[in-house]
Amino acid sequence: MLFPALRNQNESGARRTVQQNPGGSSRRLDFSEHFRFGVPELDGAHAELIDILNETRAPDADRQAISDQLHRFSEAYATHCRVEEIFLRSVGYGRLSEHVAKHRALARQIDECCRAFQADPTADRQVIDALCEAFMEHMLYDLQFKSHLDEVRGR
Ligand SMILES: [Fe+2]
Ligand SMILES: [Fe+2]
Repeated sequence: MLFPALRNQNESGARRTVQQNPGGSSRRLDFSEHFRFGVPELDGAHAELIDILNETRAPDADRQAISDQLHRFSEAYATHCRVEEIFLRSVGYGRLSEHVAKHRALARQIDECCRAFQADPTADRQVIDALCEAFMEHMLYDLQFKSHLDEVRGR
C-alpha cells in the first residue's frame, strides 16, 4: 500500500504548526504538530522541505551553498507534489484539480525565485523570504485536505 498510514485508525492525529521564529529574515521555520497529517510520506517531505529552506537562510551559507539549496528545494518540492497528488487521488479528494493548480503556481514561483537569486546578488534575502512565505502559505493550504483525510479514516 502506497500510503499505509491511511489504515492506522489509531493514529493520534496530533496537529502540527509551522511557526516562524521572530528575528527578521534569518528566523527559522519550525515544523510543529499543526501540520502533521499522520502520513509519513507527506509529513516527512514537508519537514524536509522546511529543513532545506532553513539551510538557504543559514547565516554562514555562501552564494553557492544557497543556490545549491534552492535547486535542492525545487527538486524536492516537485517530487513531493507528485506524491501528494497521488495521495489526494487515492483518497478521493474532491478539490484535487484546484490543489494541482496551486502546486503548479508555487512551482513557477520557485523557479522565479531561483532565477531572481541568480540575477541579482543583492536580492538574496528578499527572494528567499518570499519563497519561505509562499511555501508556508501552501502548508496552510494543504490543511484543507486534513478534514477529508479524517473522514477517510473514520474519525
Ligand atoms: Fe499541496
Ligand atoms: Fe504538501
